Amino acid sequence: MDAPAYEPLMRRALELARQGWGRTHPNPMVGALIVEDGRVVAEGFHAKAGQPHAEAMALINLGRRPKPGALMVVTLEPCSTQGRTGACTEKIIKAGISKLVVGATDPNPAHAGKGFSILRVAGVDVVAGVLERECEDLNSVFNHWIQRQTPLLAGKIAVSADGFCARKTGARDVTGALAHADVHKWRACFPAIAVGSGTALTDNPALTVRLNQVPEYSPRARFVFDRKLRVFQNPSLCLLSDGFREHTVIVTDTAAPKDAEQRCAALGVQCWRLDKNHFFEDFRAHCAAQEITGVYCEGGPALLKALLEQKQLDYFFRYTSPEPFGENGAAKLNLNTLHFKNEITEKFGSDTLQRGKIFY
Ligand SMILES: NC(=O)c1ccc[n+]([C@@H]2O[C@H](COP(=O)([O-])OP(=O)(O)OC[C@H]3O[C@@H](n4cnc5c(N)ncnc54)[C@H](OP(=O)(O)O)[C@@H]3O)[C@@H](O)[C@H]2O)c1
Ligand SMILES: [Zn+2]
Repeated sequence: MDAPAYEPLMRRALELARQGWGRTHPNPMVGALIVEDGRVVAEGFHAKAGQPHAEAMALINLGRRPKPGALMVVTLEPCSTQGRTGACTEKIIKAGISKLVVGATDPNPAHAGKGFSILRVAGVDVVAGVLERECEDLNSVFNHWIQRQTPLLAGKIAVSADGFCARKTGARDVTGALAHADVHKWRACFPAIAVGSGTALTDNPALTVRLNQVPEYSPRARFVFDRKLRVFQNPSLCLLSDGFREHTVIVTDTAAPKDAEQRCAALGVQCWRLDKNHFFEDFRAHCAAQEITGVYCEGGPALLKALLEQKQLDYFFRYTSPEPFGENGAAKLNLNTLHFKNEITEKFGSDTLQRGKIFY
């Protein structure tokens, strides 16, 4: 069989990988399945860092030695270094898998292609690059982290047809329910979410993940960029007072009042005091030190403008509604200079999402 014939199996492996959506950091999401005599006999996915990799899970779930001639389909090149759970290349060879079909190559330049070589030398027939783009897209956060050891900073904004981010009335409905639900899916994907102080004060967002059939939860960190500690004007804001407030981090700088840390502690929230002259660089360094591999920056326009101007955003999500706000529009963000690398377009009702890596 040639590569396209394996696409339906790889689509299933991608579905399996997505079962670990947002829960595998700092590891990637990976799905795998085993096929014998043309039939899928076992499936697996990576559920959480420290737990078995997808290939190992598929073998565990099979519960016996695969039949001679068995095929394994996996969304990412198997790891070839020991790691926490042992190299998957070894497990595949030991199990006697004859053929391996892979989606994406290991994004870590130090490992890329190594797994393939080891398997080929051991006599496994390897077909690589099946639905490669989809498999790579699944792990944008991991790919960026593993290549650069700095978080993927992603901006998100919803704009009207004429480019407004808000209405003068204060109503928050720039896009419809389906686009809102998609935002929650992406919140779940990232280990942290960020907003500027303007948005925290105007919209009073909870920045929690609210998905069907999953109890509401907070990402590891909810960042509020607030150099002048303006959010303390309103201690009843969700971010300062709800049950997840220990996840809230007020991000301020070296020019902020001396008692910033004390004021944060009094409310039960965290405080990061960053270098005033290297603010976003220092933010990245703080995230990296805590293995926060990606941050979903939900605006508002002033924060995103600063991040874009300083070329600090790596990725962008732009939801556009077909409705112009005209005279009712407020808060414009100029995105004319925003260019995507490998843009992906999706429709949510009448709203359109364009997302992708930013090309500066
Ligand atoms: N359509 C959407 O998707 C969307 C999303 C979010 C918000 N909104 C709307 O946007 C409006 C609020 O927008 P906004 O622009 O006023 O608020 P914002 O971008 O959320 O917050 C702006 C504030 O962030 C602080 N900040 C901290 N560090 C910064 C840095 N390095 N560079 C720049 N700013 C930094 C600044 O205050 P300091 O100087 O005091 O630090 C600045 O005033 C609301 O109407 C809200 O509804 C729309
Ligand atoms: Zn592995």
